[in-house]
Amino acid sequence: MTTDLTKEAHSILRSNDRGGYTIPTKGLYPFQWNWDSAFVALGFATFDEGRAWQEIESLFEGQWENGFLPHIVFRKDDPTYFPGPKEWGTARHHWMPTSGISQPPVLATIIRNLYERNKTDSSLLKLRQIVPKIFKWHNWYHKNRDPHAKGFIATAHPWETGRDNLPDWDEPLNNVDISDLEPYVRRDIAHVNQEMRPQKFDYDRYVRLVHFGRDCSWNDHTIAQQNPFWVADVGLTCILLRADRDLKILTEEIGAVDLSKHLSAWIDKGEEGLDRLWHDGVLGYTSFDCRSGRHSNMLNAGTILPFYAGCVPSQRVDALLSHMERWWKRCRFGIPSFDPDHTLFDSIRYWRGPVWAVMNWLIARGLEDEGYEDYSKRIIDNTVALIEGAGFRENFCPATGIGCGGHDFSWTAAIWLDLQARK
Ligand code: GLC
Repeated sequence: MTTDLTKEAHSILRSNDRGGYTIPTKGLYPFQWNWDSAFVALGFATFDEGRAWQEIESLFEGQWENGFLPHIVFRKDDPTYFPGPKEWGTARHHWMPTSGISQPPVLATIIRNLYERNKTDSSLLKLRQIVPKIFKWHNWYHKNRDPHAKGFIATAHPWETGRDNLPDWDEPLNNVDISDLEPYVRRDIAHVNQEMRPQKFDYDRYVRLVHFGRDCSWNDHTIAQQNPFWVADVGLTCILLRADRDLKILTEEIGAVDLSKHLSAWIDKGEEGLDRLWHDGVLGYTSFDCRSGRHSNMLNAGTILPFYAGCVPSQRVDALLSHMERWWKRCRFGIPSFDPDHTLFDSIRYWRGPVWAVMNWLIARGLEDEGYEDYSKRIIDNTVALIEGAGFRENFCPATGIGCGGHDFSWTAAIWLDLQARK
């Protein structure tokens, strides 16, 4: 069975390959997505290292002059997807059509994996080319998504967090005035069962936020000052903190001492910022609405990512581990994207409950690195069991294990391949 699934995973990556870049899945997501491509590179690295580096290089074709790396590189329009290049209106920033928001910066960590798996002259050369570009992107994040140097990373759009419809965003999204929303037609629900997708409340606000960015020509200063949605995310903060640590090691590998110094400063700041997201009331790290000054009191899979960031003080370890224990009592498969004890939990609706292979990979990596191998192993076993039971779906119901969302999903295939290669 394992060999068959591995073959299937190879063929999913090959068939979602559009000639140097990979789409997440046919139909629903017909372009190149940022963090999807990072995971895809991890998967390709297990059987075609050259193609793995190519995935990363093609993603950077979308990088803007200011370092920003978009969440979607469109290349061309496709009427089956909304909102497309016209809605984003980024033409004055880059020759290739892209979106105007970014996504979780997992790339430096994945490149470190790729490089350390096979250190050769040719991969060192690739590293020399790519590291300065990633540095520029991290610099964009620190400067524009943490303009007051708090150390935590705020976001202008739920899509930027990669965890689109988390209940944590519901209250901050109430601030988005949709009275002048231009009419639009959703395309996603033509591809996937509506019960597994974000709802109209979310979508109206997603589209309005895209238009806000477009109308201010994606001016980072205006966005930080006035974007109606401006929320510090534990996920982005942890992923960037970990990526800064890995990038620092890579800069040292290529002897870029000047870049390494900046990274040390960002890491110190990131640790401070993450600490600010701790919420004593719920004994966990939670998001913080910078507009209202309020912490969310909800827990989600991101709550566990501080291990991945390498930054959980010993007195907080038990609390985080016991959240996972509690969730496993409610759900057969971990880790649910949102707290199953909360009334807003929805086992099949995207980021309001389902398990995602990529989140499991990040959480498991972090737990393993910090010495909690039992937890890490359990999460990996759950991920393998979900894929064996339901195939390479976009995500999975944590209670029943049924597959949800899109089929033949690239990043689920990629995680499978990486997990097999690590055995
Ligand atoms: C959805 C997910 C996001 C992912 C994208 C493409 O928007 O929430 O994390 O990158 O689909 O798979």
